[in-house]
Parts: sequence; structure tokens; C-alpha cells
Amino acid sequence: MDKKQDAIDILKKYNQEHIIKLLEKLDGKRKQELIKQIQTIDFHQITELYNNTKKEIEFKESKIEPLKYLDKAKLTEKQKAKFDELGEKAIKAGEYAVVTMAGGQGTRLGHQGPKGTFKLDVYGKGKYLFEILVENLKEANQQYGITIPWYIMTSRENNAETVAFLERNNYFGYDKKYVTIFTQSELPLVDEDGKLLIGKDYKIKEASDGNGGTYSSLRSSGCLADMKEKGIKWVFIGSVDNVLLKMADVTLLGMAISQKVQIASKSVVKDNPYERVGVFCKMNSHPKVIEYTELPTKMAEQRDRNGELKYGESHIMCNLYTIDAIEKISKETLIYHSAHKKNSYINEDGEEIVPSEPNSYKFESFIFDAFEFFDDIAILRGKREDDFAPVKNKEGVDSPKTAKELYEKFWNKRTNKKNL
Ligand code: UD1
Repeated sequence: MDKKQDAIDILKKYNQEHIIKLLEKLDGKRKQELIKQIQTIDFHQITELYNNTKKEIEFKESKIEPLKYLDKAKLTEKQKAKFDELGEKAIKAGEYAVVTMAGGQGTRLGHQGPKGTFKLDVYGKGKYLFEILVENLKEANQQYGITIPWYIMTSRENNAETVAFLERNNYFGYDKKYVTIFTQSELPLVDEDGKLLIGKDYKIKEASDGNGGTYSSLRSSGCLADMKEKGIKWVFIGSVDNVLLKMADVTLLGMAISQKVQIASKSVVKDNPYERVGVFCKMNSHPKVIEYTELPTKMAEQRDRNGELKYGESHIMCNLYTIDAIEKISKETLIYHSAHKKNSYINEDGEEIVPSEPNSYKFESFIFDAFEFFDDIAILRGKREDDFAPVKNKEGVDSPKTAKELYEKFWNKRTNKKNL
């Protein structure tokens, strides 16, 4: 079969004639690479995703209610001791692994490079986000007398830079034997007419498919099989950008074990109705997070009888799963959300166009959309000052300034306590 003709047929079928024109202009290696790329793209899926951008998100038909949680600060001493003991036992038995999602670039932060390579100005010398995570893991290792296997998810865009950075810094003292880096997959970008964008390298422009890609990438990379071989029973998945993230919280783990759930997650109380965090709820009897970009204002502002926000439990990217849950989710298809964004591209005359307004759609699946495959998940409410100091924006809320303040306050408090 003629591979070029096959590619042309596909492009015609899906109204992507501008790529046929490009294909005709290219020769040699570039042409072969483009044909190869066309063969890997699921055009049917992209067409569907584009068509979905025309539809409004509707929750009207759904039954939405708050999701129950346990407040860590209100656990009885006995309850907490029981959870901690269960959690500790599982970690000590080598049943626990950690995944860090580090596929994002620090675009909002104005940082050039992988987000984990951002240096937060703390305690004079400063610390990289990756370094802060390593310190957290090393502390747990020391406490439980074990080395927790650490899996880091990068994107195609930032993988080489991330690996070079970690190598250069000797993994901040983490035993390299226990670190596995894997790469998430990508999806093409389309313009407002559903046409695929072409990049400067004369390839179809693709971008990371969102942090929901973690599950399938764990599977396709072989990490899931590796975890099973190691006897891992619990997998924690966290973000790279929360400098107070506790990657081995025995209370959370023990609660999950005790409640016999497949997924447990930590929350903090939403700061105000408009905070840019996802919120937990139950939709049609299944656990769900509604992302801040999709939460109707009316729902965000609703309060209960005590005056508390009715949907006030924030999703802080602190999620724990049984290995079976990861296996199950990795075989499912998560829904995709579209983001209207600015993306440069090459036009038919070969010129690069840099738009000043959003001109294209990026498709992403979200990590928490997997929750609805389960009947229930357990939520542990933590405390903002102990658990959540994200570095998202250059200035203002969730910025290096706010994260530094929270980080130093937390560590000063801990050091003072130890010195008493
Ligand atoms: C995310 C959550 C939001 C939560 C908030 C808390 C999602 C979709 N949203 O929002 O519910 O309240 O954090 O801080 O998860 N990442 C990848 N690959 C990707 C995209 C992201 O690895 O393709 C990683 C990032 O490196 C980061 C994490 O996912 O570690 C968060 O991603 P980001 O897209 O910045 O989410 P937020 O908008 O901050």
C-alpha cells in the first residue's frame, strides 16, 4: 500500500486539505516524518473533540450534592492513631509508590522550562520545586526506614530538560535506582475551524493531553507493570507545584485502607467562592470534581445552613489509589475538556503567524475525571497552612510570594515545635 496515498485519503476524509498541500511541498525525511505522524493521529477522535467545543457544559440534568469528608483536625486520638498505624504498616511493607505529574511548563508563572525546575526563593539560598519534593520524600523514607519508588511524569516537550536537570543535580540525593521517568502522550491542536495547526518543524502541532493522561501513560510506559512487580498496592499521584504537598501522609493512607475505598483524596476548605480550584461533589451518585473553569457561579456561591460554602472542599491534587484502581482507569477513556488558547502556526505560504488572541483549541483530560468510575471515594480535609501552597502565577494569589510565606511559616512552626 502507498503510505502517502493513505495519508492523503485520511486528510481528505477529515477535511484537512491544507496538510495535503504541505505534504506535496515537502520531500525526503520531512515528508516521511509527516506521513508517519498522520498515521499515529486518531482523526475521528480529534473531529469529535472539535465538535464538542461547540457544545455548552450542562449540569442541569444532573443531581449534584456535596461529598462527605473526614476532617483530619477533628479525628479522635484513637481514630487518628488507627489510621496512622495502618498507613505506616503499608509503607514499611513496601506497598507504597509515588507519582509526580511534571508534564506542565511554567507558562503562567513566566518560567522558561519545566515547572519543577523553578527555584522558589526560600531561606536565602532558595529551593527548586523538585528539590522540595525530594526533601519531603526523603523525610518519609527516613521515618519509615524504606526508599519509596518515585515515578515522574514528563511531557515530550520537557522530558529532555527535566532529565538533564535531575541528573545535573544528582536527583537531589534521591537514590536514582528508585526513580523512573516516563513521558505522557500528546494530542493535536486545532484552529477555530477544526483545522490542524502546523508547527515550525513542518509537523502537525501537538501538545500534552492533560494530567488525566497519567493513568494511560503509566500503563503504556510499563510503570504500572513495574509497580505490580515490586508489590506496590497503593499509588499516590501529586502535582509538582505545591510546596506543602505531603507525598506520604499515613493518615490519608490509613483512612483509605480502613474505609476500604479504591481512591482517597485530600482537600482543604476553599478560600473564597471564586478561588481557582476544583471542588468535590457527588454527581448522579458518583464522586466528581468540578473544575474552576466549569463551575457555575451560582453553585460556587451556594452556602449551607452553617454559612459554609456548600461546595467548599477543594481538590488540591493530592490523590491516592489502589493499584487496581489505576489498572482499571488506565483502560478507560476519560472525557476531554477543551481550552481556547493562543498558538503560533505556519500558514499555507510558510509564514509563521503569532496570534494576539486565542485562535485554537487544546484538548486535555483531567486526572479527577476518573473518580466517577467509582461509587465512592474517601476525602480527608487537611489544612491550608499545612497542605497547600501552590506556585501557579507570577504575581498575586498562588504566586512564589504566597508560596514562600506559607512554606517558611510551616517550617518555622515545625522547627520551633521540635526545639521545645
Ligand atoms: C489543578 C487542578 C485543580 C486543582 C488545582 C490545585 C486539574 C485539571 N486541575 O489546576 O482541580 O484545584 O490544580 O492546585 O488537575 N500536568 C501534567 N501534564 C499536563 C497538564 C498538567 O503533568 O498535561 C501537571 C502539572 O505539571 C502540575 C499539575 O498537573 O503538576 C497541575 O496542572 P495545571 O494544569 O497547572 O492545573 P491547575 O489549573 O493548576
